[in-house]
Amino acid sequence: MQMTVLAISVGLMALISFVFIAAIRSGGRAPVAKNIERRRSGLILAMLVAGIVITIASLRPWPQAVAMTADTPTVNVTGGQWYWEIDTTELPLGIPVVFNAHTVDVTHGFGVMDDTGKLLFQVQAMPGYVNQVQYAFDEPGNYNVVCLEYCGLAHHDMITEFTVTAN
Ligand code: CUA
Repeated sequence: MQMTVLAISVGLMALISFVFIAAIRSGGRAPVAKNIERRRSGLILAMLVAGIVITIASLRPWPQAVAMTADTPTVNVTGGQWYWEIDTTELPLGIPVVFNAHTVDVTHGFGVMDDTGKLLFQVQAMPGYVNQVQYAFDEPGNYNVVCLEYCGLAHHDMITEFTVTAN
């Protein structure tokens, strides 16, 4: 499936590129002073280089590596219309915890908020995949789980909670 989508995407990108190249070739050009043309080319090149550098720099941290050892606490999260099931509801403080998120029906968004409503992290939860996210809680207390992907009538009601305690 993914290869089919990739092939379709590449095919469509090639088609769009072809249309652009054909349009550029067929179009007449208004006379432009040499120095303006040089400046324009320089600007386009600078934007291209900046785009590549910014893209590479901003994508470097992803995909986020999940560093697991035998001692890493893991929590299995199952989403469904319209509930969250979490197999551990008392989590440790200050230790990276790995959440394995999946769903039994449609795509949901596993989001964890602190008790002030601040979103701490989230991961897409999908049927047929287990997506992992790692997080170390630095405050003990109650945390709320919400759904961040519209998934039907009671989407807003997909709420549960867990606690983080110092051992
Ligand atoms: Cu589950 Cu929205």
